[in-house]
Amino acid sequence: MQEIAINDLNGFRYLPGYFDRASQQELLDDVRSVVSQAPLYQPVMPKTGKPYSVKMSNCGPLGWVSDINGYRYQQQHPDTKTPWPDIPSRLTSLWETLAPDAPPAEACLINFYKAKARMGLHQDRDERTFNAPVVSVSLGDTATFRIGGLSRKDPTKSFRLQSGDVVVLGGDARLAFHGIDRVLAGTSTLLKNGGRINLTLRRVNEAE
Ligand code: SIN
Ligand code: FE2
Repeated sequence: MQEIAINDLNGFRYLPGYFDRASQQELLDDVRSVVSQAPLYQPVMPKTGKPYSVKMSNCGPLGWVSDINGYRYQQQHPDTKTPWPDIPSRLTSLWETLAPDAPPAEACLINFYKAKARMGLHQDRDERTFNAPVVSVSLGDTATFRIGGLSRKDPTKSFRLQSGDVVVLGGDARLAFHGIDRVLAGTSTLLKNGGRINLTLRRVNEAE
């Protein structure tokens, strides 16, 4: 497995080409099955109600949601009010491989980016524990990913995430600022109509 050093934050891992094309296709089929049960929906920002440029869904016992009242994890889809589908086994296996010391992932957020979508610099900090890493999979069009330090003011670096790449934010990098500057339309043929899917697996609660 190829691994490329991007910064010196201990626990940050960039694993380009982790999934080959056949595995990407299988993951895409898994995502399609999840969103047929838990449709992508349009989240909005707390307070302002401004829509995100990405659409979201989740699988797992918990899902991350954002609405006018704030960010939180909840057991039900905000529109259908039904429990999120299970995390597909290919993704639980990925978690077991890359987070071997962590308890099972509880949430897998699905972000869908169309060509103009982006994600501002942020920390993943709505979980109750930061002991487990965040494991992230990219599918479809290439995106420019930006990673900084533990303070918003720290210098950042950007690099391209391609379909099949995996990133791990663990250890000292668990609370690193990160975001997506842009999606490069037409860079992948995985999604027939283009766009990018990002899957992020997370542990929300301390181990029981
Ligand atoms: C996120 O930080 O929630 C998404 C990151 C990505 O799309 O790669
Ligand atoms: Fe994030």
